Amino acid sequence: MKDLVRMRTSLKEEIEIALNAQVKMESEASQKYLAMASWLDQNGFEHTAACMYKQSDEEREHGLKIFKYINEVGGAAITPTVGEVQQEFGSMREVFEAALQSEIAVTNAINKIVTKCRQAEDYATEDFMMWYVTEQREEEQLCRRILELFELIGEEGQGLWLIDQELAKLKAAEAAGGAEAEAEGEG
Ligand SMILES: [Fe+2]
Ligand SMILES: [Fe+2]
Repeated sequence: MKDLVRMRTSLKEEIEIALNAQVKMESEASQKYLAMASWLDQNGFEHTAACMYKQSDEEREHGLKIFKYINEVGGAAITPTVGEVQQEFGSMREVFEAALQSEIAVTNAINKIVTKCRQAEDYATEDFMMWYVTEQREEEQLCRRILELFELIGEEGQGLWLIDQELAKLKAAEAAGGAEAEAEGEG
Protein backbone atom coordinates (compact mmCIF):
# COMPACT_ATOMS: atom_id res chain seq x y z
CA MET A 1 0.00 0.00 0.00
CA LYS A 2 2.83 2.36 0.88
CA ASP A 3 4.34 1.77 -2.57
CA LEU A 4 1.05 2.66 -4.17
CA VAL A 5 0.72 5.81 -2.10
CA ARG A 6 4.25 6.90 -2.93
CA MET A 7 4.01 5.86 -6.56
CA ARG A 8 5.01 8.64 -8.90
CA THR A 9 1.97 9.53 -10.88
CA SER A 10 2.96 12.98 -11.92
CA LEU A 11 6.32 14.03 -10.51
CA LYS A 12 9.12 12.81 -12.73
CA GLU A 13 12.60 12.64 -11.32
CA GLU A 14 14.01 15.45 -13.48
CA ILE A 15 11.19 17.75 -12.34
CA GLU A 16 11.77 16.79 -8.72
CA ILE A 17 15.47 17.68 -9.09
CA ALA A 18 14.62 21.01 -10.71
CA LEU A 19 12.09 21.82 -7.97
CA ASN A 20 14.56 21.00 -5.21
CA ALA A 21 17.10 23.25 -6.94
CA GLN A 22 14.47 26.00 -6.93
CA VAL A 23 13.84 25.51 -3.20
CA LYS A 24 17.56 26.09 -2.71
CA MET A 25 17.53 29.16 -4.93
CA GLU A 26 14.59 30.71 -3.03
CA SER A 27 16.37 29.96 0.23
CA GLU A 28 19.51 31.66 -1.09
CA ALA A 29 17.39 34.64 -2.14
CA SER A 30 15.98 34.80 1.40
CA GLN A 31 19.49 34.88 2.88
CA LYS A 32 20.68 37.46 0.34
CA TYR A 33 17.81 39.78 1.29
CA LEU A 34 18.52 39.24 4.97
CA ALA A 35 22.14 40.36 4.44
CA MET A 36 20.89 43.38 2.47
CA ALA A 37 18.47 44.26 5.27
CA SER A 38 21.30 44.13 7.78
CA TRP A 39 23.55 46.40 5.69
CA LEU A 40 20.70 48.88 5.16
CA ASP A 41 19.89 48.85 8.88
CA GLN A 42 23.50 49.55 9.76
CA ASN A 43 23.61 52.45 7.31
CA GLY A 44 20.48 54.20 8.55
CA PHE A 45 18.03 53.26 5.78
CA GLU A 46 15.30 52.21 8.12
CA HIS A 47 12.38 51.85 5.67
CA THR A 48 14.42 50.13 3.01
CA ALA A 49 15.77 47.72 5.62
CA ALA A 50 12.19 46.93 6.72
CA CYS A 51 11.29 46.16 3.08
CA MET A 52 14.23 43.81 2.77
CA TYR A 53 13.42 41.95 6.00
CA LYS A 54 9.93 41.44 4.63
CA GLN A 55 11.32 40.37 1.26
CA SER A 56 13.55 37.85 3.01
CA ASP A 57 10.47 36.34 4.72
CA GLU A 58 8.62 36.22 1.40
CA GLU A 59 11.47 34.33 -0.26
CA ARG A 60 11.40 31.78 2.54
CA GLU A 61 7.68 31.34 1.90
CA HIS A 62 8.36 30.88 -1.83
CA GLY A 63 10.83 28.10 -1.06
CA LEU A 64 8.57 26.46 1.51
CA LYS A 65 5.63 26.39 -0.89
CA ILE A 66 7.68 24.42 -3.44
CA PHE A 67 9.12 22.25 -0.64
CA LYS A 68 5.63 21.21 0.46
CA TYR A 69 4.49 20.72 -3.13
CA ILE A 70 7.32 18.26 -3.81
CA ASN A 71 6.23 16.08 -0.89
CA GLU A 72 2.56 16.48 -1.74
CA VAL A 73 3.04 15.02 -5.21
CA GLY A 74 5.07 12.06 -4.04
CA GLY A 75 8.62 13.39 -4.23
CA ALA A 76 11.18 14.02 -1.50
CA ALA A 77 11.83 17.63 -0.56
CA ILE A 78 15.42 18.28 0.41
CA THR A 79 16.27 20.85 3.10
CA PRO A 80 18.54 23.30 1.31
CA THR A 81 21.98 24.33 2.47
CA VAL A 82 22.96 27.86 1.64
CA GLY A 83 26.53 29.07 1.22
CA GLU A 84 28.02 32.49 1.87
CA VAL A 85 26.06 35.50 0.70
CA GLN A 86 27.26 39.04 0.02
CA GLN A 87 27.33 41.02 3.27
CA GLU A 88 28.96 44.27 2.20
CA PHE A 89 27.70 46.77 -0.35
CA GLY A 90 29.21 49.95 -1.71
CA SER A 91 25.92 51.88 -1.71
CA MET A 92 22.15 51.56 -1.45
CA ARG A 93 22.02 51.56 -5.24
CA GLU A 94 24.41 48.62 -5.33
CA VAL A 95 22.02 46.72 -3.04
CA PHE A 96 19.20 47.08 -5.57
CA GLU A 97 21.43 46.25 -8.51
CA ALA A 98 22.36 43.02 -6.71
CA ALA A 99 18.67 42.40 -5.93
CA LEU A 100 17.61 42.86 -9.56
CA GLN A 101 20.42 40.64 -10.78
CA SER A 102 19.33 37.94 -8.32
CA GLU A 103 15.65 38.25 -9.34
CA ILE A 104 16.54 37.95 -13.04
CA ALA A 105 18.47 34.74 -12.31
CA VAL A 106 15.43 33.39 -10.41
CA THR A 107 13.11 34.30 -13.29
CA ASN A 108 15.35 32.44 -15.74
CA ALA A 109 15.41 29.37 -13.48
CA ILE A 110 11.62 29.40 -13.13
CA ASN A 111 11.13 29.73 -16.88
CA LYS A 112 13.40 26.73 -17.39
CA ILE A 113 11.27 24.68 -14.97
CA VAL A 114 8.13 25.61 -16.90
CA THR A 115 9.82 24.51 -20.14
CA LYS A 116 10.83 21.21 -18.49
CA CYS A 117 7.26 20.68 -17.25
CA ARG A 118 5.90 21.11 -20.76
CA GLN A 119 8.43 18.70 -22.22
CA ALA A 120 7.61 16.14 -19.52
CA GLU A 121 3.86 16.74 -19.88
CA ASP A 122 3.69 17.60 -16.19
CA TYR A 123 0.87 20.10 -16.46
CA ALA A 124 0.09 20.06 -12.74
CA THR A 125 3.56 21.36 -11.89
CA GLU A 126 3.43 23.80 -14.78
CA ASP A 127 0.17 25.17 -13.36
CA PHE A 128 1.73 25.35 -9.89
CA MET A 129 4.76 27.23 -11.25
CA MET A 130 2.68 29.88 -13.03
CA TRP A 131 2.21 31.67 -9.70
CA TYR A 132 6.00 32.09 -9.62
CA VAL A 133 6.05 33.44 -13.18
CA THR A 134 3.68 36.23 -12.14
CA GLU A 135 5.50 36.82 -8.87
CA GLN A 136 8.82 37.22 -10.69
CA ARG A 137 7.37 39.78 -13.07
CA GLU A 138 6.20 41.83 -10.07
CA GLU A 139 9.46 41.51 -8.17
CA GLU A 140 11.60 42.49 -11.14
CA GLN A 141 9.30 45.43 -11.82
CA LEU A 142 9.65 46.65 -8.22
CA CYS A 143 13.47 46.43 -8.35
CA ARG A 144 13.52 48.35 -11.64
CA ARG A 145 11.18 51.00 -10.25
CA ILE A 146 13.47 51.51 -7.28
CA LEU A 147 16.56 51.75 -9.51
CA GLU A 148 14.71 54.40 -11.53
CA LEU A 149 14.30 56.41 -8.34
CA PHE A 150 18.07 56.66 -8.05
CA GLU A 151 18.06 58.25 -11.51
CA LEU A 152 15.07 60.51 -10.86
CA ILE A 153 15.89 61.70 -7.34
CA GLY A 154 19.67 61.37 -7.44
CA GLU A 155 21.94 60.28 -4.64
CA GLU A 156 23.23 63.70 -3.61
CA GLY A 157 22.19 65.66 -0.52
CA GLN A 158 18.85 64.39 0.79
CA GLY A 159 18.40 62.08 -2.21
CA LEU A 160 19.08 58.83 -0.39
CA TRP A 161 16.87 59.88 2.54
CA LEU A 162 14.05 60.64 0.09
CA ILE A 163 14.49 57.30 -1.67
CA ASP A 164 14.24 55.58 1.72
CA GLN A 165 10.93 57.40 2.34
CA GLU A 166 9.67 56.49 -1.15
CA LEU A 167 10.47 52.83 -0.48
CA ALA A 168 8.08 52.81 2.47
CA LYS A 169 5.32 54.13 0.17
CA LEU A 170 6.08 51.65 -2.62
CA LYS A 171 5.99 48.71 -0.24
CA ALA A 172 2.77 49.96 1.39
CA ALA A 173 1.17 50.32 -2.06
CA GLU A 174 2.30 46.82 -2.97
CA ALA A 175 0.86 45.41 0.28
CA ALA A 176 -2.45 47.22 -0.35
CA GLY A 177 -2.54 45.86 -3.91
CA GLY A 178 -1.92 42.36 -2.58
CA ALA A 179 -4.72 42.73 -0.03
CA GLU A 180 -7.08 43.94 -2.76
CA ALA A 181 -6.16 41.03 -5.01
CA GLU A 182 -6.79 38.61 -2.14
CA ALA A 183 -10.17 40.20 -1.41
CA GLU A 184 -11.08 39.91 -5.10
CA GLY A 185 -10.04 36.28 -5.06
CA GLU A 186 -12.31 35.60 -2.09
CA GLY A 187 -15.27 37.43 -3.63
FE1 LIG B 1 11.09 34.10 -4.82
FE1 LIG C 1 12.19 37.27 -5.35
